[in-house]
Amino acid sequence: MKDLNENLDKYVLENNYFEDQKKKIAIDKYFSELKSGKPQIFGLYWSKAQSEIRHSKEMETVKKWLNNLWNYNFEGKNIFDPNRELVYADRVRRREPGDDTLGLSPHCDAGSIERWIDRAYQKIYSDIFSDNFENYNPFEAKYRDETIEFESPAVAHVFRTFQGWTALTEQGPNDGTLQLIPIAKGMSYVLTRALLDDVPENELCGSKAGKALSINEKYHSLLIEGLVSIPKMNPGDTIWWHPDVVHAVEEKHQGKNYSNVIYVGATPYCKKNIDYIKKQSKKFIEGKSPPDFAPEDYEVNYKGRVTANDLSELAKKQLGLVDWN
Ligand SMILES: [Fe+2]
Repeated sequence: MKDLNENLDKYVLENNYFEDQKKKIAIDKYFSELKSGKPQIFGLYWSKAQSEIRHSKEMETVKKWLNNLWNYNFEGKNIFDPNRELVYADRVRRREPGDDTLGLSPHCDAGSIERWIDRAYQKIYSDIFSDNFENYNPFEAKYRDETIEFESPAVAHVFRTFQGWTALTEQGPNDGTLQLIPIAKGMSYVLTRALLDDVPENELCGSKAGKALSINEKYHSLLIEGLVSIPKMNPGDTIWWHPDVVHAVEEKHQGKNYSNVIYVGATPYCKKNIDYIKKQSKKFIEGKSPPDFAPEDYEVNYKGRVTANDLSELAKKQLGLVDWN
């Protein structure tokens, strides 16, 4: 893992990422409403380090196991295939020691106001909206593959059974690491909170279309009491959280070393995901940013970028370059 971290550093520095970044106009406004400002996240997707981690046998084993935690079979039909994993290319977090500007306020991805107004989300949360929230099971996959999100840079258009990352460096609490409110059913609170009388009629507790779902002190102070930093992670350790779990990144990195991670979520085979992966595969071939992200396209001419020739048969299937069957 140390080698991969060094390899990624080299990829960033040798290809002059920082100069490239300065030249480009920031298109990615996704986090603009989160008060901590722009995170220290790199718009890089196709480095050797990312590819090796995403497509490893170990990662495949872990993701299959995670997918199987869900109830995916309804009336004889599989909502997704838990044993065929696709790979969703995501970015890199490389956080400097001492950084105190690049945290992220509590939020959820995979849709903000969609969670109230999208038809599929309404069905997913029907037990909550009909006052039977004790019956709500966040691990039932039915309708999860049918949600339609607003078009926006950096909003995921795939169904992730779990979001996650893999640590490239050792990092513990206070090292600028991840925080979670580790309660998948916490979405019941968020959804019903917006319906209470103190929330203006034209508002959903600060949620805005095309942004991350905001969890804030003004409306969610009780829920935020449950926010905890994850335990110490060693290089190669992975962390996974349900797509309804509220998460944040610590405001300050008080540690001494870089706090680096590669984002790798679990995206099992289903129509929604394979449709996205097919679009993503075209971007991969060209070395461009994946469809869900701002089209910064830093890596088109980068030295050391992974190409189809570098991929295993499994990796090609996971990227939708060849069929699974
Ligand atoms: Fe997030």
